[in-house]
Amino acid sequence: MSEQVYIFDTTLRDGEQCPGASMNTREKLEVARQLARLKVDIIEAGFPIASDGDFEAVKAIATEIQGPCIAALARTHEKDIVRAGEAIKPAAKRRIHTFSSGSDIHLETMLKISRAENIKRSVAAIKLARQFTDNVEYSAQDTTRSDREYLVELYTACAEAGATTLNIPDTVGYAIPHEYGALIAFLIERIKVPGLIYSVHCHNDLGLAAANSLAAVKAGARQIECAINGLGERAGNTSLEEVVMAIKMRPEVFGGVTTGIDTRQIYPASRLVSHLTGMVVQRNKAIVGDNAFAHESGIHQHGIIANRCNYEIMSAEDVGRSSELTWGKHMGHHAVRKKLAEMGYTLSDAEIKSITDSIKALADKKKHVYDEDVRALVEGQFTEVVQTWKLDYLSVMTGTIPTASVRLLKAGKKEPVADAGTGDGPIDATLKTLDRITGVKGSLMDFNVASVTRGEDAIGEVSVRVDFNGRIVTGKGSSTDIIEASALAYLNALNRHLDEQQRRCAADKPTQ
Ligand code: KIV
Ligand code: ZN
Repeated sequence: MSEQVYIFDTTLRDGEQCPGASMNTREKLEVARQLARLKVDIIEAGFPIASDGDFEAVKAIATEIQGPCIAALARTHEKDIVRAGEAIKPAAKRRIHTFSSGSDIHLETMLKISRAENIKRSVAAIKLARQFTDNVEYSAQDTTRSDREYLVELYTACAEAGATTLNIPDTVGYAIPHEYGALIAFLIERIKVPGLIYSVHCHNDLGLAAANSLAAVKAGARQIECAINGLGERAGNTSLEEVVMAIKMRPEVFGGVTTGIDTRQIYPASRLVSHLTGMVVQRNKAIVGDNAFAHESGIHQHGIIANRCNYEIMSAEDVGRSSELTWGKHMGHHAVRKKLAEMGYTLSDAEIKSITDSIKALADKKKHVYDEDVRALVEGQFTEVVQTWKLDYLSVMTGTIPTASVRLLKAGKKEPVADAGTGDGPIDATLKTLDRITGVKGSLMDFNVASVTRGEDAIGEVSVRVDFNGRIVTGKGSSTDIIEASALAYLNALNRHLDEQQRRCAADKPTQ
């Protein structure tokens, strides 16, 4: 059976220490629920001695979350250990993670204690922690700038005192992968206590956190401490998504190890953490960045359509997202044809060529080209939208209860359909009544009015973006009356949506 690498997630502890990323208890619980869906092995839920809020959040997570082990951080002080022990008490599986330092610079200038005193305090803390749980982790900060022989002495004493996991942090992100791997191998070799799990915790100051963690796994480490989107102090921690996918994609490099992570939950976890912390994920970030599965150059898009493996080592679906071919100036005919077919348009070779040129011209003027833009181009050049619904009559009463009376004509039907309804304002009343008559509910995402002529009787043009069950469609309408222009724009979007639906149905029907 393959050996497991345990995933210890510290998004809620080290991740939350990242400036500006703090979360309240409700938000932390939301993240913890997603971490449980992701199936991380250990959730480091917080640092209970840091504040009452931290204590409450750890306790709430320990009370609610089932599945992962819940860990709390504590310095080697007695009060820290007791507070951590109380916070994790409700959890079925619980761990205390206590830490001091290993490097002389930390001991002399920060903790102001001798090496011997450090060992004494660490041992005492572990023995106390064992009274709350038999699952105790010990970390000496700054191991990558510490004397190796001292680390052997310190960690051996901690393991003999009852620590079951020894974590070897690269606190300042100083290590280089081959050197860090060698440190882990050295400590595994020299610490003679059996049955220990060696863990790694790397910071990303040199952009090497994931590489260092993986080098450590190759050297025998079996726990990786990491955070969603690489959140953490300064340049952050090891990104969970990067190490998990590296192990999944290349297990043979690491002696066939696996993780227990449900990788399809990675992207939802990334979005949630980014949303709750306000920490935007860089577009080209591995695995979870906007561009990670987007192919723009024509050659790449052609290759992807022929066989995804030409330019993708893993599938977007595997990490819980869908793959995208983006509209852009590097797009080739194959990709344009494929995307248009998905939108229900079947065009000739000459039409595809012409529309590809138009898309490129548009991409020169506009940063992002969306499906709606392309739809407008195609409709403007090659197709005419079927007018399923037409406005026949509209009367609106404003006042305390704005009311709209609407009459529509449906293509192919002689009798008009009429109804009246109320809303938060005259436009809302009109659009709601349109929804009721047509039986298609849209939700207005954008609404813009521009004056296209001058004077008191100026024509106003309304442009709308409407979401019809996940498909975003634009519409335009003009009139000297803004409410009527709004109704026309909305109906225009609706007709385009119905037209596209019909085209898609026709394209899906098998030919005889
Ligand atoms: O970076 C670090 O050393 C830490 C320890 C508390 C594990 O976060
Ligand atoms: Zn850290």
